[in-house]
Amino acid sequence: MSDLVKVTIEGREVEVPRGTTILEAAKHAGVLIPHYCYHPSLPIAGVCRMCLVEVEGWPELAASCATTVAEGQVVHVSSAQARAARQGVLEFLLINHPLDCPICDQAGECELQDYVFQEGRSGTRYGAYAKRFNPVEDFGPDVLYVPNRCILCTRCVRFMEHVAGEEVLNVSERGDRAYIGIDTGHTLDHAWSGNVVDLCPVGSLISKDFLHKARAWDLDRTASVCPGCTQGCSVMLETRDNTVLRVKPRPNAEVNRHFICDYGRLNYDWLNRADRIEVPLVQENGRLVPADWDRAIERTADLLRSAKAPWVGLVSAGVSCEALEAAARLLKMGGGAGAFRVAEGEEAPLPGVPDLALRKERAPNVHGAVAAGFGRDWDRAVAEARHAGLVFVLDEDLKGVEALPSGVPLIYVGTVLPQAARGAAAVLPCANMAEEEGSFVNLRGKRQAYFQAKTPPGMARPAAWVLEEILAALGAGTGVAA
Ligand code: FES
Repeated sequence: MSDLVKVTIEGREVEVPRGTTILEAAKHAGVLIPHYCYHPSLPIAGVCRMCLVEVEGWPELAASCATTVAEGQVVHVSSAQARAARQGVLEFLLINHPLDCPICDQAGECELQDYVFQEGRSGTRYGAYAKRFNPVEDFGPDVLYVPNRCILCTRCVRFMEHVAGEEVLNVSERGDRAYIGIDTGHTLDHAWSGNVVDLCPVGSLISKDFLHKARAWDLDRTASVCPGCTQGCSVMLETRDNTVLRVKPRPNAEVNRHFICDYGRLNYDWLNRADRIEVPLVQENGRLVPADWDRAIERTADLLRSAKAPWVGLVSAGVSCEALEAAARLLKMGGGAGAFRVAEGEEAPLPGVPDLALRKERAPNVHGAVAAGFGRDWDRAVAEARHAGLVFVLDEDLKGVEALPSGVPLIYVGTVLPQAARGAAAVLPCANMAEEEGSFVNLRGKRQAYFQAKTPPGMARPAAWVLEEILAALGAGTGVAA
């Protein structure tokens, strides 16, 4: 028996592995069957009945999320019968759902709004909507619950029970009094609980952090990699007016499935820092003065040409592989090497997904730095820096590092100028990870690209560009076109 099953969905023939649900097979055929309770990373519940389709020869409509395909099956998603059934589901949902889209955070990305627009009735046969519950419940550090909007799909309940492994949510009461309850004495403070906000198809579970910040249609979305730890989760950076306003998970079956932890989700303010270095600075008469890029690169190259060996590098494990590789090449020219350090925190796994955790090492490119040849012997590198011919710093905040002796020239390439680098011979402003394209290597050795979501401030350029320009000025690289 073949492991593939041939089915026809909306007139399109597809072959899918045996055991695939009709809903997933339809995706292969390029057909989206409307659904609420189904989610590919959660156990199937089959409670919303929104995914009903007609299967030829069957006496009743089938819930496509819970029905597996069979050889030769012919499925109709948009037949009059299937549409009428889904229209009925939508009408029932709207009896108890307030039409508060103008003030709802989910507007523009609400699946109830979308499906009603797509195939709902144009009017209601019911009277005024009766509010049943308190307007808002505080569920946890970043989650609010608006029970009047809840369509009881139970995705949040299943996520907490089967994926987070902390069974704190439930369906309380029955019928039109049913709502999502939280166990007495508990809050939604699990390290991964913010995912319930993404899973909620309507505006019932919302993020406090994002509350009333922006409308969904005003946001630009850019594929990126979470800079929070070595896991390297795929994320979407959502920006408006050149500011990162929200971080959402981006599906990646090999790394994070559909989830990100709350640390990664909420730790983005630094991408919007206002105290950035905006122009190249060079030392003149004991002061740092602004310079254009040509002069700054030339001055830096002169410094490097005249610097004695060895050169020491103090680099960040938060910059791109491209910048780290160029920095390693540069340091090699001075017979030197470099090191990095990384902040550590508590590891927080997501039990329902193998090999997914908020990792202890809170920087995205520790493994890229190691691959580029940087060591973890930070203290030794700092000690050596005090006697080096030249010190090169790549976006390291130098916290706890004493200012270097006056005879040791310092070149600082970074986003923000730390106190310890105020005496640098040259300061070259670079973009942060949201402002450039680049790649990080995660803890499993997977190199993943991220893309530019906002523009860097002033004259700041990607660190890799800055380094390639320096290398080109020294005759050691091709340089990147300006
Ligand atoms: Fe199939 Fe809810 S998606 S019943």
